[in-house]
Amino acid sequence: MVAFNVNGKRVSVNAEDDTPLLWAIREHLQLTGTKFGCGAGLCGACTVHVNGEAVKSCQTVLADVAGASITTIEGLSPDSSHPLQKAWIAEQVPQCGYCQSGQIMKAAELLAQNKTPSRAEIVSHMNGNICRCGTYTRIVAAIQRAAKEA
Ligand code: FES
Ligand code: FES
Repeated sequence: MVAFNVNGKRVSVNAEDDTPLLWAIREHLQLTGTKFGCGAGLCGACTVHVNGEAVKSCQTVLADVAGASITTIEGLSPDSSHPLQKAWIAEQVPQCGYCQSGQIMKAAELLAQNKTPSRAEIVSHMNGNICRCGTYTRIVAAIQRAAKEA
């Protein structure tokens, strides 16, 4: 049994210490906005925040998050009004959408650290979050829009 906070609520997950956090989020807690892409730390579809830091939840085990505060896409804002979520809609970023929760969580980490990122800083920060639909140009545009409006 491992206890931690998810989106402001205390939870306990009855699973082995070496269970990937992604499994706990999707299977035990039924928060299916976080996606399973590669399961190998290569795509970023599973990105969530652990104590404010974007991590790949497929590569994070439950033992490492005991007592931590985790935020998933469902908890980024109470009503989907985070500047990034609004910008994603305005720029019509998603195509299939599968990678986009991870993209937004990774981008949210950037804007929390740097409210006025340059294009190069955005590209560098987002490196590692893969989009098979190739929405990269719109992802950058949405982050720039959110930075202006935040
Ligand atoms: S599913 Fe975790 S990095 Fe791809
Ligand atoms: S929108 Fe399809 S993988 Fe990114």
